[in-house]
Amino acid sequence: MERVWKFLKDAGIYYLATMEGDQPRVRPFGTAHVFEGRLYIQTGKSKNVSRQLHDNPRAEICAFQDGEWLRVAGELVEDDRREARQSMLDAYPSLQDRYSADDGNTEVFYFRNATATFASFTHEPEVITFG
Ligand SMILES: Cc1cc2nc3c(=O)[nH]c(=O)nc-3n(C[C@H](O)[C@H](O)[C@H](O)COP(=O)(O)O)c2cc1C
Repeated sequence: MERVWKFLKDAGIYYLATMEGDQPRVRPFGTAHVFEGRLYIQTGKSKNVSRQLHDNPRAEICAFQDGEWLRVAGELVEDDRREARQSMLDAYPSLQDRYSADDGNTEVFYFRNATATFASFTHEPEVITFG
């Protein structure tokens, strides 16, 4: 799972797909953080992406870096603990001018039942499960 986190950090940007009914929605994301052995992302309750994840936690992310791409499919589950939110904000000081742990908007989700697949044109897919 550390390898997944490192790939996402190195790529800088990944794309997060959620479901809205039967319509996939995708957007760029950047937050990726390990807390208590789980892989977390951050968003705001005011966003559509948040509503979609609460309605249906099934999600997939994709990132590309140096000829290799990573997909992580699983469920994104909110962790409503203040310490989980604060840990994310500590890891991303740049978020702190827009978000705080007690603002009622900031939220963090971790991957559950996740399958990560590293792929490229030059090697067979490598699959890691976590969460
Ligand atoms: C490079 C980049 C990284 C981003 N990272 C995040 C992020 O980690 N969390 C977040 O909530 N929004 C992030 N955003 C903003 C979302 O892409 C944007 O708010 C998007 O509209 C949210 O999806 P929604 O409109 O379906 O809710 C990022 C945008 C860019 C361009």
